[in-house]
Amino acid sequence: MRVKKAIIPAAGLGTRFLPATKAIPKEMLPIVDKPTIQYVVEEAIASGIEDIIIVTGKGKRSIEDHFDYAVELEQNLLEKGKNDLLEKVQASSKVNIHYIRQKEPRGLGHAVWCARKFIGNEPFAVLLGDDIVQAETPCLEQLINEYERTSSSVIGVQTVPENQTHRYGIVDPLMKEGNCYQVLNFVEKPSPGTAPSNLAIMGRYILTPEIFLLLEQQEVGAGGEIQLTDAIQQLNQIQSVFAYDFEGTRYDVGEKLGFIQTTIEFALQNEELKKDLLGYLKGILEKEELLQVN
Ligand code: UTP
Repeated sequence: MRVKKAIIPAAGLGTRFLPATKAIPKEMLPIVDKPTIQYVVEEAIASGIEDIIIVTGKGKRSIEDHFDYAVELEQNLLEKGKNDLLEKVQASSKVNIHYIRQKEPRGLGHAVWCARKFIGNEPFAVLLGDDIVQAETPCLEQLINEYERTSSSVIGVQTVPENQTHRYGIVDPLMKEGNCYQVLNFVEKPSPGTAPSNLAIMGRYILTPEIFLLLEQQEVGAGGEIQLTDAIQQLNQIQSVFAYDFEGTRYDVGEKLGFIQTTIEFALQNEELKKDLLGYLKGILEKEELLQVN
């Protein structure tokens, strides 16, 4: 069965970005000029996903507005001949997106479970807005290809430094074939020094619908939340779940330093900004005496 549907959970509280996220969803914070969630939606579409459901919660209305038509704005840009901006604005409203609310933020696993009726009995994708991936073949497409090869759930992973493993779901790998690992265990946020490897789950998943039965019975795990990783660990006991070390650069926009680094990297990829930004960064490095002036 083809993977045609994707869930984007966006109902979290975004506490790492408070106070910004008091009234603005974390997913709407922009990298240069585009909200993080739009990068993720674009990856899903580029990977062949036809239907997207965003799990929203309290205070997340601006996500729906962002992907809606903005008739007056579009008319205004048209009249002023600002066609390049019009194109950018229309790009986000061309996609067909569905919404469901998670009434309280009980964890990622619970957010995914909220979309079960939309998914029905077919394999599906989950993408988290905390990770943006730039890759020649979109990250999700790589996982879908792997799903088609194995007919099994596939979880996107990349290696992280050992001192970072406690922040992620971590994979205890068995055999490796190409970039694909058979997995013994999936462990959510292991205590520092106890991680079975440094292969970390990166916010891209292809899951079989059996996961919903497991999520239904899932008890709270790390952080007092219903964890998707715990349900994946159980799924792996009844059917194989593979970990796939995907190609591409992953940007962590779910925490402050990663967000700032991503903003700089993406701004440097923008020809209009690159020269001035480099000059500005050079000035800072000189001021901090990190760069020698000739
Ligand atoms: P995070 O833990 O990174 O997001 O969850 P958060 O809770 O919003 O952020 P912090 O930790 O408080 O700063 C990963 C993803 O799961 C979603 C989040 O929106 C994020 O995209 N999520 C998390 C939900 O949709 N519902 C939840 O109950 C928890």
